[in-house]
Amino acid sequence: PDLTATVVVDADIPGPAISRHLYGQFAEHLGRCVYGGFWVGEDSPIPNVGGIRSDVVEALRELDIPNLRWPGGCFADEYHWRDGIGPRSERPRMVNTHWGDVVEDNAFGTHEFMALCELLGAEPYISGNVGSGTVREMADWVEYLTRPGTAPMADLRRANGRDEPWRLRFWGLGNEPWGCGGRMSAQAYADLARQYGTYSRDHGDNVLYRIAAGASDWDVEWTEALMKAVADLDRGPFPALPFQAASVHYYTIGGTWTAKGSATEFGADDYWRTIVAARDVEPLLRRHIAVMDRYDPQRRVGLVLDEWGTWWDVEPGTNPGFLYQQNTMRDAMVAALHLDVFHRLADRLVMANIAQTVNVLQAMILTDEETGALVRTPTYHVFEMNKVHQDATAVPTYVKAPDLVREVGDRQVPTLSASASVRDGRCHVSLTNTDLEQAVEVTLDLRGADVSAVRGRLLSAPGVAAANTPAEPDAVAPREVALGAGPGGVTVVLPPHSFAVLEVDVP
Ligand code: AHR
Repeated sequence: PDLTATVVVDADIPGPAISRHLYGQFAEHLGRCVYGGFWVGEDSPIPNVGGIRSDVVEALRELDIPNLRWPGGCFADEYHWRDGIGPRSERPRMVNTHWGDVVEDNAFGTHEFMALCELLGAEPYISGNVGSGTVREMADWVEYLTRPGTAPMADLRRANGRDEPWRLRFWGLGNEPWGCGGRMSAQAYADLARQYGTYSRDHGDNVLYRIAAGASDWDVEWTEALMKAVADLDRGPFPALPFQAASVHYYTIGGTWTAKGSATEFGADDYWRTIVAARDVEPLLRRHIAVMDRYDPQRRVGLVLDEWGTWWDVEPGTNPGFLYQQNTMRDAMVAALHLDVFHRLADRLVMANIAQTVNVLQAMILTDEETGALVRTPTYHVFEMNKVHQDATAVPTYVKAPDLVREVGDRQVPTLSASASVRDGRCHVSLTNTDLEQAVEVTLDLRGADVSAVRGRLLSAPGVAAANTPAEPDAVAPREVALGAGPGGVTVVLPPHSFAVLEVDVP
């Protein structure tokens, strides 16, 4: 290749711990995410465990999903949990006003979700209803889920077939209260977050990690209102904060909110606008972190990016309210760039949830509505290849590539991205070449590592719009990568729009 770069990794200089929860997922009652995606019902010809699709679980288990957020999104603030317990045939129905205006039969409720989490080996992250629910409703749900012994909600749970309480840590206080969750002001919501957080009690030895619903995009004033709401509150008679984290949502939109563009048909300009938008997640998160640092320099309150990912126009012919979109190598680039940023910011960013796991937005998995066939997307492969960073220690990583910059409008965008971590005697380096046309030869200057046996895998495809389909499920799939040796160290050639993860032992 004409282009060259050096990536320097200080494998023996430990940085922050990369929480595995930065690899979290999100499943909403939206389109075919839950119904048709995770849930087919016990009578389905599609193999299932108690109604939950076995092939979806099997594919997702390969990702080591740390947590799954549910039931929304916007749906969370119109969901009433009591509608989703007890015999399925007796559960009341409701209209899902946010997503397609379809009737929801509540077949998938609390017990089904907790069973799904158990099958996935993932921790549940449940968002309670602040927008249209009461404090009592939320308090009762927490009691139902987590209370041991005899108590009204624990007894109700037992009557529905679950004796022992579940373990539940992550508890969301509503969703997007500035928008679909109630159109509130920051101050109005901050007060509610304290109130709902207070009554979301710890029962027995279960300790909740309450997550206040946070800002949209660059709205740091929202974050500031939340931080003011917890400043000093754990003094005096109140021994704990009413919430332990604040969230933020940021989607990568290549076009505009009203014309987002096709997931599969896009030109170079569309592509580069998307890369710029994806890279913006770093300055965006840093701004929220700067506000948090002012109020909480000890970093007791975590930042949670519990919705992120690409958002395109829906696939032609599909319900506009179902947010079903194809997934290409462009989406894989966006995922890889985000994960590098998460690794860098891991000392404050404690969790992130890509939207959404199956059949909605930037999905890991797409299922065919007619045949039921399952496809792993390019984004799935990025998550699978990168899972080695979960619970690892981030290490300093420098990209020396002054010429690898693309001008996009008035922006100078680096085309190469990298991050690295160390875990269990191994260092992993993730490399992303976002250039559309040019391959780049990367020399790895791996300091503090045994470079005699570097190995790795590469995700690439001839075209950036390459996607997996039921007819070609492995058109985009990782393969072993060939490594070379140059004067400066190990070398690897990254084709245009490709992603690689290399592994090396550390003494
Ligand atoms: O993920 C789709 C929707 O995007 C969520 O329901 C909402 O929180 C956000 O606006």
